[in-house]
Parts: sequence; structure tokens; C-alpha cells
Amino acid sequence: MSVSTEPLVEVRDLHIMFPSRAGMTNAVKGISFEIGQEKLGIVGESGSGKSVTCRALLGLIAPPARVSASTMRLFGDDYAQARPSAFSAVRGCRMGLIMQDPRYSLNPVATIGTQIEEGLYLQRGLRGAAARAEGLRLLDAVALRDPQRVWSSYAHQLSGGMGQRAMIAMMLAMEPALLIADEPTSALDVTVQVEILALLEGLVKDRGMALLLVSHDLRMVEGFCDRVIVMHQGHIVDQCRAEELSHSHHPYTRRLLNCVPALAEP
Ligand SMILES: Nc1ncnc2c1ncn2[C@@H]1O[C@H](COP(=O)(O)OP(=O)(O)OP(=O)(O)O)[C@@H](O)[C@H]1O
Ligand SMILES: [Mg+2]
Repeated sequence: MSVSTEPLVEVRDLHIMFPSRAGMTNAVKGISFEIGQEKLGIVGESGSGKSVTCRALLGLIAPPARVSASTMRLFGDDYAQARPSAFSAVRGCRMGLIMQDPRYSLNPVATIGTQIEEGLYLQRGLRGAAARAEGLRLLDAVALRDPQRVWSSYAHQLSGGMGQRAMIAMMLAMEPALLIADEPTSALDVTVQVEILALLEGLVKDRGMALLLVSHDLRMVEGFCDRVIVMHQGHIVDQCRAEELSHSHHPYTRRLLNCVPALAEP
């Protein structure tokens, strides 16, 4: 078997524009990056364009907003000219998304079990007892203590940490090659954050899954990721190996780094 060295994702000159009173406002201004078989971090202050970049990769930015790129290669196919609906071929099955607050991404009127079963049926053709057995195995894999109870629960009956684990299980049902996690732990308390990160780390190792992790926490990204992209006002201003982040000479990265101890002080 040949080992492919091609990146999973290759983006060239990505622009994302939203309508505003002054016409169109550029939220992302011509960025280029690749995602390989790795843990890639995106950091940058609020409003720098991290979340919209993730959503553009999943075809989740719809008109009147506009997305343009000279290349948007996802798993070998170029989506630069594709309509948002075409992205359903990669969304869920090749790329999964976890957002900040599971309460907004879980369906409030369906049990966790029903939602996992749906994914297992759509992506893997499993149903009935086979789907239930696999679903319970996934809930167990994300270290939910009582999978049976979670299976028949609604989102509002779970804590934030349990909801996020359930969300991750739901994504795993699709067996994505790339998981996009947009601040997956920032709504959770510190001990739960550490557990969720450990869980993601294990999944990357065991399943060979690539991870795109958006975070405000430069120290965490430095320790957790392989490589980091720094965004500022819609541009990529710096990128480096994660362990070199704190030695970056870029003035904006230095400014972000210098904010960290100040925020951590009482
Ligand atoms: N639906 C929308 N309509 C109009 N403007 C939007 C929309 N979504 C995002 N934007 C704008 O795009 C820019 C980038 O937003 P984005 O959510 O990507 O920031 P971010 O880097 O994820 O910030 P945060 O760290 O706060 O999550 C912001 O100026 C935001 O106001
Ligand atoms: Mg965001």
C-alpha cells in the first residue's frame, strides 16, 4: 500500500465576505494553508476569522455571504467553485465539526441515541440492534460513564461536558478523516477541558484522525498541537511548529503571548 503525502486539505487565497451597510465586508482576506495528517491549531483574537474559516471548509457559509478561493481541495477534490450543497459529500463523512457549545449543535427534540443512530445509518448503513450496539460502544469510547442513560437522554438532560462527549461520539459515528473542533472546551470547566483534550488526543492516535483545533489558549495549543497558524484581522500573520510558538519573533504573536500571563493573574 502506498502512503499518500498529499495534504487532506489545501486552501489557496480564501476570501470570505459578509454583507454590511458599506457593501461587503471582508472577514477573511486571502489566506492559504494546508492540513496534513496532523493536529493543526488556529489561534488569534476574537473576530480574526477562525470560525468562519472552519465553516467555509464545511460549506456552511451560504449567500448572501460570499466565499471565494483559487483552490479549496478537500480529500482530492476541488470545491473552489462548488455550491454549498456540494459539500455534503465531505461534510460528516470526511470532515466533522464540533463547536464551542454542544447545546447549540445537538438536536433538542431528539434523544442522543436517535441522533447517533441517524449518523450510523447515513454513513455506515447500520440500523436496529447493530446501530444501537455500535452507538453504545462509541459513547463508552468517549468515556461517558453510563452510556445506556445518555443514549436515551435529551441534550438538556446532560451537563456541558457530557454534551460535548456525546457530540464527539456523534462525530465518531461518521468516522471522519478530519475533525474540526472550534473551541471545543471553552464552555467547559478546567478539569473537564483537560479530559476532553485527552480524549481528542487518544482519538487522533488510535484512529489516525487529523485535527483542526481553534483555540484562544496559546499555551494549550503549544503543548497539544503539531503546528499552529496565527490569524489577525482576516490574515494569517504567522505560522510555525507548535513547540516554537513561544519563541516566535512575530510582533502580533508576541502580543498574544504577552496577554496570557496577564489574563492568568488574579
Ligand atoms: N453571519 C455573519 N454575518 C456577518 N458577519 C459575520 C458573520 N459571521 C462572522 N462574521 C464576521 O466575520 C468576522 C470573523 O468572525 P469569526 O466568527 O470567524 O471570528 P473568530 O476568530 O472565530 O472569533 P472568536 O474568537 O470570537 O470566536 C467577524 O468580524 C464577524 O463579525
Ligand atoms: Mg470563533
